[in-house]
Amino acid sequence: MKKIILLIAATLAFAKFAPNSKCQECHPLIYQEFTQSMHAKATIFKDPIHAAVWKKHPLHKKGAYKCAKCHTPAANNFKELIAPNGIGPDPKNVSQNDAVACAYCHRIEAVKEGNRTNSNVISSHPRIYFGARKEHIASPFHKIDTSKATFLKGTSCMGCHSHNRNNKGLFLCKMEYNATSECASCHMPQVPGSVSTLKKRATHAFHGFAGAHIAPKMLAKYVDLSLAPTPNGLRLTITSHIPHELLSHPARVAFVKVMVLRDGKTVWQKRELLVRIIGKNGKPTPPWLATQVLKDTMLKANESRSYSYDVTLQKGDKVVALLGYRLVKPPLAKKLGLDPKLNKPVILKKVTFIFEG
Ligand code: HEC
Ligand code: HEC
Ligand code: HEC
Ligand code: HEC
Ligand code: HEC
Repeated sequence: MKKIILLIAATLAFAKFAPNSKCQECHPLIYQEFTQSMHAKATIFKDPIHAAVWKKHPLHKKGAYKCAKCHTPAANNFKELIAPNGIGPDPKNVSQNDAVACAYCHRIEAVKEGNRTNSNVISSHPRIYFGARKEHIASPFHKIDTSKATFLKGTSCMGCHSHNRNNKGLFLCKMEYNATSECASCHMPQVPGSVSTLKKRATHAFHGFAGAHIAPKMLAKYVDLSLAPTPNGLRLTITSHIPHELLSHPARVAFVKVMVLRDGKTVWQKRELLVRIIGKNGKPTPPWLATQVLKDTMLKANESRSYSYDVTLQKGDKVVALLGYRLVKPPLAKKLGLDPKLNKPVILKKVTFIFEG
């Protein structure tokens, strides 16, 4: 028994960050949501898309998992993991499986700007967690510090989400911080259920981090889709209320589809792709080889965009418009050998109207 206790004490001492399982004891709801989130699944063990790209990446051969900086930043062997020594991610390592860990995020004291990527400055106190609640009770496990700008102003996301440039200097993704519409207000809205088991509260900040994989319907209200008849046919308008591009990752492809249905049959349809394609010498390439943007039709921050179509409508026609996306562009999904089940189209928004003549 003594041996086991000593062993546990030793493991805790070596883990730089308290494990997620510790937080589960008093924050079961938040923990439950978190385990479903892409932050909990950011590893090559739980994210098949990340795993497939990592396998093709030149650093894979060297065994230098530099992706750890953002995908498994709480790893207890972080330095070895990113070094070119061939060890690679270890599915048995608990701290790697903690992925973008609870304690890691809640110890982000500041964000340091950088050329290739930004970096997080982590506080040296393993048991002081930063937060944003105006009022809270004391916690028996940790201290709470609600004085940090990273949490009060909501900039804590920008160490990992602001940008990522390859070694050719090309931005693979880019997201600006917006003080009036900060990340947590949309991605971590207050939802029913208590913050902890120690004091009953009506709501807590959603820790499933709604996004392209998880609970996208929670975000659908931030994009409007409208259809209107015109003298020559139809106009479709998409209006974004998002302070960043509709989708940011270069693997993604969004689409809008407009269909005219007559007597239950599709008699006319049109599709537009909203996509950013990167590459070299005019041809698409993997992100690490890309030197230029070949095409960019992605919906921009707060953009309103209309498409007009010449089509002859008849009284009683049903017009349907969809806004959706796939996580991975189909040609890329094929190259990566992804299971097609993982890449089904997701419909974010749908509008219909009946043409009255
Ligand atoms: C600067 C931080 C950072 C680094 C370093 C980083 N990533 Fe990411 N990665 C992210 C963020 C943030 C997302 C989510 C972005 C989004 O959805 O727009 C992401 C998403 C991804 C995705 C999409 C996953 C999915 O399920 O759709 C892939 C693939 C990926 N990263 C591969 C890699 C690989 C491979 C490396 C290392 C060679 C790496 N990343 C390094 C921050 C980073
Ligand atoms: C023994 C119980 C216990 C454990 C274990 C615990 N917490 Fe807490 N935590 C609390 C209590 C109680 C509060 C205050 C809740 C309230 O006021 O409603 C709290 C509040 C917080 C806050 C809120 C900060 C703010 O905005 O006020 C954060 C962040 C937090 N905990 C993070 C964590 C993390 C991360 C872990 C795991 C590493 C963890 N907690 C483990 C009991 C615990
Ligand atoms: C330590 C780095 C890190 C920090 C800090 C971070 N993220 Fe992430 N985030 C990631 C990575 C990596 C991914 C992609 C994981 C994957 O798909 O494999 C991601 C994915 C996401 C997604 C996409 C989810 C989906 O369903 O596709 C959202 C939304 C998100 N993060 C929001 C946030 C918000 C909001 C904050 C700040 C409160 C934040 N992130 C802070 C690394 C981070
Ligand atoms: C990607 C970063 C990130 C991760 C991972 C994360 N949190 Fe949070 N958490 C935040 C942010 C940001 C807030 C403040 C949200 C806001 O401003 O509304 C927050 C708020 C909280 C609060 C206060 C809730 C409230 O409603 O005020 C608690 C408690 C908490 N987190 C605990 C946890 C626990 C436990 C985990 C893991 C199971 C976790 N967090 C994982 C970023 C994170
Ligand atoms: C006004 C609401 C709103 C705000 C504020 C906001 N987002 Fe988003 N975000 C969205 C919507 C809507 C989507 C697209 C829907 C989806 O991915 O399902 C999205 C998508 C994302 C994705 C997935 C992109 C991809 O390619 O997979 C990430 C990551 C993300 N947001 C991070 C952030 C970060 C970080 C911030 C703060 C800098 C932020 N968001 C601010 C609404 C918002």
